[in-house]
Amino acid sequence: MIVRSQVIGCGSYLPERLVSNAELAAMVDTSDDWIVERSGIRQRYLAADGEMTSDLAFAAASRALESAGISGSAVDLIVLATATPDHTFPATATKVQRRIGMKHGFAFDVQAVCSGFVYALSIADNFIKTGQIQTALVIGAETFSRILDWNDRTTCVLFGDGAGAVVLRANRGKGGSQDRGILSTHLHSDGTHHDLLYVDGGPSSTQTVGHLRMEGREVFRHAVINLASVVGEALAANDLKASDIDWVVPHQANRRIIEGTAKKLGFPMERMVMTVEKHANTSAASIPLALTEAVSDGRIRPGQLVLLEAMGGGFTWGSALIRI
Ligand code: UT7
Repeated sequence: MIVRSQVIGCGSYLPERLVSNAELAAMVDTSDDWIVERSGIRQRYLAADGEMTSDLAFAAASRALESAGISGSAVDLIVLATATPDHTFPATATKVQRRIGMKHGFAFDVQAVCSGFVYALSIADNFIKTGQIQTALVIGAETFSRILDWNDRTTCVLFGDGAGAVVLRANRGKGGSQDRGILSTHLHSDGTHHDLLYVDGGPSSTQTVGHLRMEGREVFRHAVINLASVVGEALAANDLKASDIDWVVPHQANRRIIEGTAKKLGFPMERMVMTVEKHANTSAASIPLALTEAVSDGRIRPGQLVLLEAMGGGFTWGSALIRI
């Protein structure tokens, strides 16, 4: 018997306030045409005053638990990926733990910026495979609007707020590739490119929250290389070809990065799930937001092979291959 982590439910949440490119063009020197042409983004959702990452995370988690048909008390572990926690400590995951009524087990945050959801999924998968837990709630939740420099047109137009979550449960099968669950995860980081994408504040450096700083063109170049490499690694590890994958759910940073990666690997764009035009870049939330959308509208169906891939600050990057 082989244990796999099966996705038994997913859910997402976007704040109410929708902000168009035109609205941003009234604040900084930019235009709808520039933003759409360079990134594919048309709009983003921003959290209301006082609405925190834990609020978005709780809303997405509640929907994921509902779709899985289980209550919060059945969850053994919460791994919450975020770069924008409510507080420096404790972990935002413990606030969600209290709100879903989970009184046993443990909850913690993971910090891998835009790769955070893939990191969190990989960690939860390993706890399930080693038999330490049965059921995990994996969340990606962000309020990036709080760390943007709203005077910097090169970054403030690219990001949005939101949350997504999946419920994983141990599935005992024969170990064949048809068994449902996570087939593989691959994680990477490289600390040498810190200055290309970082936040210029933090408790131990400046004692301020700080703002996101990015050399966009350089990040773009590394993103396409690293994403193509980690997808190739996942295919090779599972002895698969690009044509065996039903859907790719990429981190949603830029339409051109997604197109570039698809082209390099020979994936048709029809099999890439795209939400960047509606949500912008929601960092750790972007993959579970896109996954939930494609599962809810019936594109992704039980038994299909789905490949998740992400790249973000650190640099960090990674993949997860799932038989849904
Ligand atoms: O989530 C993972 C981390 N993030 C990413 O993966 C993002 C990666 N990078 C990107 O998505 C793209 O590099 C951007 C969308 C950020 C920028 O696109 P680009 O084609 O690389 O443009 P660029 O940075 O080379 O800028 C081109 C021009 C510059 O003007 P000059 O120097 O050519 O005169 C910028 O000053 O566009 C200017 N520009 C803008 N113009 C209007 C930069 N931002 C804006 C703006 N509106 N918002």
